[in-house]
Amino acid sequence: MTGMSSHNLAERMESVAVDVRAMLETVLEPAALDGEINRPAHLMAAMRHGALNGGKRLRPFLLIETARLLGAPQEAALRVAVALECIHCYSLIHDDLPAMDDDDLRRGQPTVHVAFDEATAILAGDALLTLAFDILSAPETRLPPQTKLDLVNHLARAAGAGGMVGGQALDLLAETAPPDEAGIVRLQAMKTGALLRYACAAGAITAGADADDVARMTRFGEIAGLAFQLADDLLDVTSNAAAMGKATGKDAARGKGTLVSVHGIEATRQRLDGLVEEATTLLEPFGPKARMLTDAARFVAQRDR
Ligand code: IPE
Ligand code: IPE
Ligand code: MG
Ligand code: MG
Ligand code: MG
Repeated sequence: MTGMSSHNLAERMESVAVDVRAMLETVLEPAALDGEINRPAHLMAAMRHGALNGGKRLRPFLLIETARLLGAPQEAALRVAVALECIHCYSLIHDDLPAMDDDDLRRGQPTVHVAFDEATAILAGDALLTLAFDILSAPETRLPPQTKLDLVNHLARAAGAGGMVGGQALDLLAETAPPDEAGIVRLQAMKTGALLRYACAAGAITAGADADDVARMTRFGEIAGLAFQLADDLLDVTSNAAAMGKATGKDAARGKGTLVSVHGIEATRQRLDGLVEEATTLLEPFGPKARMLTDAARFVAQRDR
């Protein structure tokens, strides 16, 4: 792993991104593992395209920093973080498909179904989803068995029908039947909130933290998740494809109700400031060593990409 002594958010995020990339390279290597039969080259290439094409690696960062704050072994935390990033990358590949958001650009590059084909993109997503649970359960993830089971179970619930996938289903419904504000908040807590919440909860679980700390970090992740999607919706209105590496203006074009469309840009910025304050207050009991995480919450809220 790369040096971790920096207290600068940008440097530390870059360092985590480098570690995540290296671990993704390892788990996406072409050779079949014990118990596998063969790894088709074009499928692996599509998975690599969808996972190694940049990205802020925000979920791994939150997971690893939470794990660090609470004293988890960093090698194990990195593997848990990479499992989560595999789920995130799969969700993006499927989100961009013609049947969903029909996007051509992701992380500044052609989306997987454009670079390959639609069926291969679907299968690359499926395989990244499965790979996440391989990584968590594999012997190389050196954590107590009960901790691994908890991480697996929490991830399944965060990612599945009652979490991210469910949120994506509600998001598609919302294009034809716009939800009210409470509906929007719930949909977002599912489609993007659930994986960010998992990032922080899983960091604490990896550390073997007590129930109070797991609950506190889970709440921190919820706030980060809310801020994350508010910022995504804001950027969809205020930014551009060159800066974001993906199309913008899509929510309005699809008639998608967001909290930005309900409350406007200024009120959304104020709400984001409030969330950063709430997140900071929540981590006060940890003292100055929680600084990296509160800086991360501010980054999530104020990011420009
Ligand atoms: C984008 O997530 C998709 C949403 C969940 C809104 P990120 O903004 O974290 O995307 P990458 O991973 O940095 O590309
Ligand atoms: C994506 O939400 C959510 C998931 C991939 C789970 P969006 O559709 O708003 O994300 P972008 O704007 O395409 O990145
Ligand atoms: Mg979408
Ligand atoms: Mg999309
Ligand atoms: Mg969006």
